Amino acid sequence: MDHFLYRDGVLFAEDVPVPEIAAAVGTPFYVYSVATLTRHVRLFDEGLAGLPHLICYSMKANSNQAVVKLMGDLGAGVDVVSGGEYARAKAAGIPGERIVFSGVGKTREEMRMALEGGVRQINLESEPEMRALSEVAAAMGVTVPVAVRVNPDVDARTHEKIATGKSENKFGIPISRASEVYAEVAAMPGLEVVGIDVHIGSQLTDLQPYRDAYSLVASLTKQLRAEGHAITRLDLGGGLGIPYERSNAAPPLPTEYCDVVRETVGDLGCEIEIEPGRLIAGNAGLLVARVIYVKEGEGRRFLILDSAMNDLVRPSMYGAYHDIVPVAEPAAGVDYAPYDVVGPVCESGDTFAKGRMLPPLSEDDLVAFRSAGAYGAVMASEYNTRPLVPEVLVGGDQFDVIRARPSFDEIVRRDKVPAWL
Ligand code: LLP
Repeated sequence: MDHFLYRDGVLFAEDVPVPEIAAAVGTPFYVYSVATLTRHVRLFDEGLAGLPHLICYSMKANSNQAVVKLMGDLGAGVDVVSGGEYARAKAAGIPGERIVFSGVGKTREEMRMALEGGVRQINLESEPEMRALSEVAAAMGVTVPVAVRVNPDVDARTHEKIATGKSENKFGIPISRASEVYAEVAAMPGLEVVGIDVHIGSQLTDLQPYRDAYSLVASLTKQLRAEGHAITRLDLGGGLGIPYERSNAAPPLPTEYCDVVRETVGDLGCEIEIEPGRLIAGNAGLLVARVIYVKEGEGRRFLILDSAMNDLVRPSMYGAYHDIVPVAEPAAGVDYAPYDVVGPVCESGDTFAKGRMLPPLSEDDLVAFRSAGAYGAVMASEYNTRPLVPEVLVGGDQFDVIRARPSFDEIVRRDKVPAWL
């Protein structure tokens, strides 16, 4: 459930009419709902009630500091994957003890940054990375809590570009080598083994891969404990999918996912960390755009919007489906017709949808892409020198710009032409 509903014939973001935001900030823009973000965090919290746990919001999904601060206020921590995300998390007030640092290629600079600023745990993904962290920590005279990311060789049954738990993927160490690798880590100065980390992919719509992976983690926990390691935390990653296409069967709910956690690893006495990103932010955001032209092509009708692939890349990158709805509620019984929904960028890949059934639309009408709160603004670029889309946060009847649209001047001033040219 989200908080973007039609009321009095127009789409609202909580208690604010979307056209009011469009009038204030111009289009296109992203808008996020505090109530929806909050509800999603609470669903996980309630699902894991009774188990010691920390929700480490995966901020790669939406790293605006206002969103991250809200997560912190709700008691969550964050999962970061770069020095930039770490800096943003700290700027948003997340304490070091609630920051988990993940990622397959952390640099020594990033490690130093986390050790200086404080970190809950660093998830290690390879032996060279372990040696690097050991050197950095030892040189700084500190000991850092670590977990090793194991690759369970489980098929997440999701898009190949976002599956991470198969042996052919670059992530983690093969679970079959865990025993050997944990013995190595335990012997390295500056590192303290505290747990096991696993993440098998994103936009999972089936719980079975989780059941399989978490059962393997449960067996590994027992084995590593028998080998003398103090496994007190399990980081179970993120990845729970959201309903992008309303006509499809709904993916499992957070409570059902949490039941799988409870059933597979709930009796090990470990503190549970989960790293949801998309489920928290995805359906908490819209991308709102305006129709520039309706163009009659040969045998097709193009809806040309002022948003493009640089603003929301998921359709062209993954062939992803995003529901597109008119901001003015269509009258009952109106005829729907197929449109190719495109942006103004100069490539054919700049297509959001082909043959999408929509009610009659014309120039200047507003449309909204649903489920755009995760992997939307964060993946945007300035391709075609199109300014990054502003972000707006709505809470009840209030809204604020949480990242402004850069002006052409700001963009142009960023380049430096050398004096010798
Ligand atoms: N933890 C780790 C280690 C991850 O790599 C990811 C996502 C997450 C947590 C959060 O997964 P989520 O709960 O959001 O599914 N750009 C793609 C998604 C890439 C996901 C990468 N890793 C998309 O737009 O679909």
